[in-house]
Amino acid sequence: MPGRNFLFIPGPTTVPRRIQNAMNIEQEDMRAMDLPAFTKPLYEDMKKVFKTKTGRVFIFPASGTGGWESAVANTLNAGDKVLMSGFGHFSNLWVDLCQRWGLDVHALEEDWGDGVPVEKYAEILAADKKHEIKAVFATQNETATGVASDIAGVRKALDACNHPALLFVDGVSSVGSIDFRMDEWGVDICVSGSQKGFMLPTGLGIVCASEKALACREGSTLPKTFFDWNDQIKTNDLGFFPYTPPMNLLRGLRESLNMLFEEGLDNVFARHHRMANAVRAAVSAWGMRPIANEEKWYSDTVTAVKVPEGFDGNEVVRHAYNYYNLALSISLAKIAGQAFRIGHLGDMNELMVLTPINGAEMSMKDLGYPIELGSGVAAAQEYLRSTAKPRIQQ
Ligand SMILES: Cc1ncc(COP(=O)(O)O)c(C=O)c1O
Repeated sequence: MPGRNFLFIPGPTTVPRRIQNAMNIEQEDMRAMDLPAFTKPLYEDMKKVFKTKTGRVFIFPASGTGGWESAVANTLNAGDKVLMSGFGHFSNLWVDLCQRWGLDVHALEEDWGDGVPVEKYAEILAADKKHEIKAVFATQNETATGVASDIAGVRKALDACNHPALLFVDGVSSVGSIDFRMDEWGVDICVSGSQKGFMLPTGLGIVCASEKALACREGSTLPKTFFDWNDQIKTNDLGFFPYTPPMNLLRGLRESLNMLFEEGLDNVFARHHRMANAVRAAVSAWGMRPIANEEKWYSDTVTAVKVPEGFDGNEVVRHAYNYYNLALSISLAKIAGQAFRIGHLGDMNELMVLTPINGAEMSMKDLGYPIELGSGVAAAQEYLRSTAKPRIQQ
């Protein structure tokens, strides 16, 4: 089939040519004497993405779920009370993981369209005078609903009552795309993955841990081997790994960091915001709205487009794939069929972001949606034109 498939799901995202080239190398000796000269700066530079000076980054040959598992297994114990909230497929999976680890999970069930309920967290933490809650969990970006949450607000809730609980953040679909500040927000553990903002294939479970989280290793009794932080620390400090590392992905990660730093993290975040605004302009021109209930929850990496009553959003995804070779993303679990998702993160520019809008619009028209052909594309074009800046200064 001529042409190419256009991938606009919220991860894995498009892998830029530069990163593909960096990974397209001969296999190498992971015990070579010059490897530390590569790995040590890599780990140091990863800290810049998390905005931490005192934290430590772990990189596992895993996915985000592995990162979650390592975070829990190295810091908490069975029976520990934790405060969580579920408002989408991924925040709920995190709840499930903690339950399976035998934690005493108190999970607030929120509307799918809202985010972390900061006020409720504040009340619960203030009432926990004996400090029984050992950790508070927050999903910064719920990929299933396109909802971004206020992590600084969760820190404020903890500080307001001097609560010592650890703060865990899921940054799988936000780190490297939406601002995240480990030290400033007092985050103890942030989990991410390679296949979203880092623009890599799936395969790295990335965890950043604060000094306070690292100290919890002392009393940690949950079983672990593959995900044991102690083994990582011992070998990473020497520039090596406790088991065979995925060197191609690590070489790709180096290039990913080069690209993020060349653009500048603030510019990366601003670009994501602009791409997201273009998608939202299209959605509004279609007479539709995001699943996110309020503007404050809007995600800059993924938009779940709520479809009108009587339509199946997942049919739009199937149709776009089948007729136009475009990969949009289905809506999952509780909202299956009520929306389709557009991923607008990673390696993305103006004309790229118009592609899923274009394909979704054609597919919806084909399926009898009451939309005007060209309306979403035109609205996004107008927004992008009116906010465009020259790439090259002359
Ligand atoms: C917010 C969020 N958390 C966790 C995960 C799980 O990550 P993985 O699929 O890499 O294991 C995902 C996956 O999309 C996600 O979007």
